[in-house]
Amino acid sequence: AIHPVILSGGSGTRLWPLSQSKRPKQFIPLITDKTMMQDTALRLPAHEGFAEPIIVSSAGHADTVIEQMRDMDMPPSAVFLEPAGRNTAAAITLPALWLLEQQDDALMLVMPSDHVIADVDSFRRAIALALPAAADGQLVVFGIHAAHAETGYGYIAQGAPLPGVPGVYEVAKFVEKPTLAVAETFVADGGYHWNGGIFLLSARSYIEELRQWAPEVLRACAEALSNARRENPLVYPEASAFLSSPDLSIDYAVMEKTQKAVVVPVEMGWSDVGSWEALWAVRDRDENGNCIKGAALTVDAQRNLLYVEDGPPIAALGLEDMIVVSTASGILVMPRSRSQDVKKVVELVKSGH
Ligand code: GDD
Ligand code: MG
Repeated sequence: AIHPVILSGGSGTRLWPLSQSKRPKQFIPLITDKTMMQDTALRLPAHEGFAEPIIVSSAGHADTVIEQMRDMDMPPSAVFLEPAGRNTAAAITLPALWLLEQQDDALMLVMPSDHVIADVDSFRRAIALALPAAADGQLVVFGIHAAHAETGYGYIAQGAPLPGVPGVYEVAKFVEKPTLAVAETFVADGGYHWNGGIFLLSARSYIEELRQWAPEVLRACAEALSNARRENPLVYPEASAFLSSPDLSIDYAVMEKTQKAVVVPVEMGWSDVGSWEALWAVRDRDENGNCIKGAALTVDAQRNLLYVEDGPPIAALGLEDMIVVSTASGILVMPRSRSQDVKKVVELVKSGH
């Protein structure tokens, strides 16, 4: 069985004032009536042949993780609780080493906890295509059509098809978070995919590549795990060893360097919901194009996102293409087209304005 590994350590700021470090977006019912972490787990249920999920999160969110998994009757086989995040290379190393204690040929499906996949059937078909390559020790990434020059993503140049393995291609080049100019050349070229941030990996093979390309991450995690406090299913890696790991994402640490990367292109309605605009695009909308959550009403209003959570109700009159978010900790009003600039607001708020 494939072990789903759900990375749940991020602290999104792009959905201010909603998503803040105390309650990052994976723990919020942003898209459906379940939280994004719950929806992520539900995509790969036991009756589809997947093992119980493994969660990697931070110690500060332990109660939230346990409670949200209990809510769905999906007991995790392990919950790794980091003292503080050391990025995804380390976060993936903990479950990889842990699985190898029990099983030499374990396969991990690594997934961010805060993405939307609208077409789960296509996702499962892509996993099935990826399986033989992963079992053979290749590190599989899932490639999403690179629709525009987004600099927050990794880019994958699709190489030759793998002989005898339909749907799987060599990775000719992997470039994490290129500059805008470089991203534009990739999109114009047409032979590139975005890295969806989802990986199918043999634990053994990932650890071998890590030993070669980022040995300090492996050393720190191995020591942290051998001295871990284990309260089944909770695993607290030993703090000082874990925190000595370099802060590196799997993309920089391994995927840009390894010769073993392969890509499975897939169209599955993927979104990392990285902005309010992206949320408007993935949520259901009414006949006027308005997406409404909570106590909001509209008169002659079109294509807005009106989002109320713990804040005063919204009345939108004659409003078009705007985002209005009402929470207890703040109210945001902006044109949809300015969604990428929320970080400017967050910076001002942080600097005490
Ligand atoms: N447990 C844990 N610990 N999880 C973490 C940590 C950590 O230290 N850091 C990040 N995560 C989780 C996040 O919660 C998220 O679910 C996932 O790992 C990816 O981290 P991001 O911080 O969101 O990465 P990114 O968006 O900058 O880039 C990655 O995703 C893109 C697609 O959305 C890269 O893989 C890119 O190449 C990719 O295109
Ligand atoms: Mg992300």
